[in-house]
Amino acid sequence: MIKSFVELKIIYKLRSNILIIKLLESMIEMEGKTVAESRVELAQIMYPEHANPAGNVHGGYILKLIDQAGAIVAARHTHSNVVTASVDRMDFISPAYIGNLVFAKASLNYVGRTSMEIGVRIEAECLKTGRHTHIGSAYLTFVALDEADNPIEIPKLIPETEEEKRRYSEAKERRMKRLKKSKIARNEPQPCIVRPEKLEKTK
Ligand SMILES: CC(C)(COP(=O)(O)OP(=O)(O)OC[C@H]1O[C@@H](n2cnc3c(N)ncnc32)[C@H](O)[C@@H]1OP(=O)(O)O)[C@@H](O)C(=O)NCCC(=O)NCCS
Repeated sequence: MIKSFVELKIIYKLRSNILIIKLLESMIEMEGKTVAESRVELAQIMYPEHANPAGNVHGGYILKLIDQAGAIVAARHTHSNVVTASVDRMDFISPAYIGNLVFAKASLNYVGRTSMEIGVRIEAECLKTGRHTHIGSAYLTFVALDEADNPIEIPKLIPETEEEKRRYSEAKERRMKRLKKSKIARNEPQPCIVRPEKLEKTK
């Protein structure tokens, strides 16, 4: 059905207003977002499939939860595809058991140009007593990518509380050390790994 000139004019005006609003929204977003805007807390009951025969939850399962929680925070902050670039050291300081409610508490510590550091704290709650145990904590770096897998600029972080400001400056220090190490690792000569099928072709 052909729309009248007045109708078309209204649609055009509405569309251009929406475009302007979207543009303003993305400009405001690039100005910065708070830690609270992307913070997340996952909770999951531990079942036998998450544990060894003695009832201890597998470390690998805890690491998966950490990566998941971190990725959610990174995606909430950037609204783009995010990949894990690095995971810092992780010590399991207490065990978690079958029947525990395990929490992964994750929030942004620091944001660079295309990468961000996220801190994840794992706690296990005993449902019989309500007691919380600290299982371990880790720092992860995620990078935001565009559709061609190139790193893209992400919104800045606005640390609001004293704790967030402390975490921000500590994460900045860690980032410098981390990048120094990763640069050294990249410059080390790579071992030559030749797969059997490739060896066949060179014969
Ligand atoms: C992470 C990845 C995108 C970085 O690519 P790259 O070519 O090194 O990109 P750049 O050098 O432009 O670095 C992009 C950002 O990542 C950061 N970065 C790169 N390597 C890093 C590392 N090992 N640890 C922490 N940050 C790192 C850089 O500091 C930079 O951050 P900034 O923009 O905030 O300053 C790339 O290495 C990759 O795709 N890795 C595989 C990711 C993946 O598949 N993860 C799932 C587990 S298998």
